[in-house]
Amino acid sequence: MIRLAEPEETEAFGRQLAAQLRPGDVVALQGPLGAGKTTLARGILHGLGHRGDVASPTFPIVIAYEPPETRIPVWHVDLYRIEDPAELEELGLEDAREEAVLLVEWPERLPSLWPGTLQLVFAESRGARALTAQVPPAWGSRWPPPP
Ligand SMILES: Nc1ncnc2c1ncn2[C@@H]1O[C@H](COP(=O)(O)OP(=O)(O)OP(=O)(O)O)[C@@H](O)[C@H]1O
Ligand SMILES: [Mg+2]
Repeated sequence: MIRLAEPEETEAFGRQLAAQLRPGDVVALQGPLGAGKTTLARGILHGLGHRGDVASPTFPIVIAYEPPETRIPVWHVDLYRIEDPAELEELGLEDAREEAVLLVEWPERLPSLWPGTLQLVFAESRGARALTAQVPPAWGSRWPPPP
């Protein structure tokens, strides 16, 4: 369990995680509304080179970031508004996964997670956030990300 006391700590952790990311990685960001998923994604995107704001991709559901702005392509996805699994196919996540990193908020909307997905779950504890991770074998020595 990783304790993240402030939004700034969550962003800083995202930047550390960004240094470990490779094309094909999927990071599932779970937890209730306002838990800190977009805040962590903001840190990751800044760590990958994005300058400026990181909007929540609730609508549109996907915001893509591309080199040279970011070190590798990144799709920031928020599936909260997906009601029917058929809508998922139109997003093209399968194809994007071949060369991009996928940061997926509300992955509960997926019928199943891809093998190798790094699952990060936020819970709130007295104002701070507690992050627990399910780390697939493919992540090996990349987890926990060094500071
Ligand atoms: N330790 C913390 N880490 C992250 N956010 C925090 C923390 N403490 C307080 N917050 C606040 O909680 C809110 C988190 O919002 P954020 O948009 O990241 O949530 P989210 O999980 O993406 O929600 P949604 O499900 O609506 O997409 C922000 O207002 C942020 O300032
Ligand atoms: Mg969000």
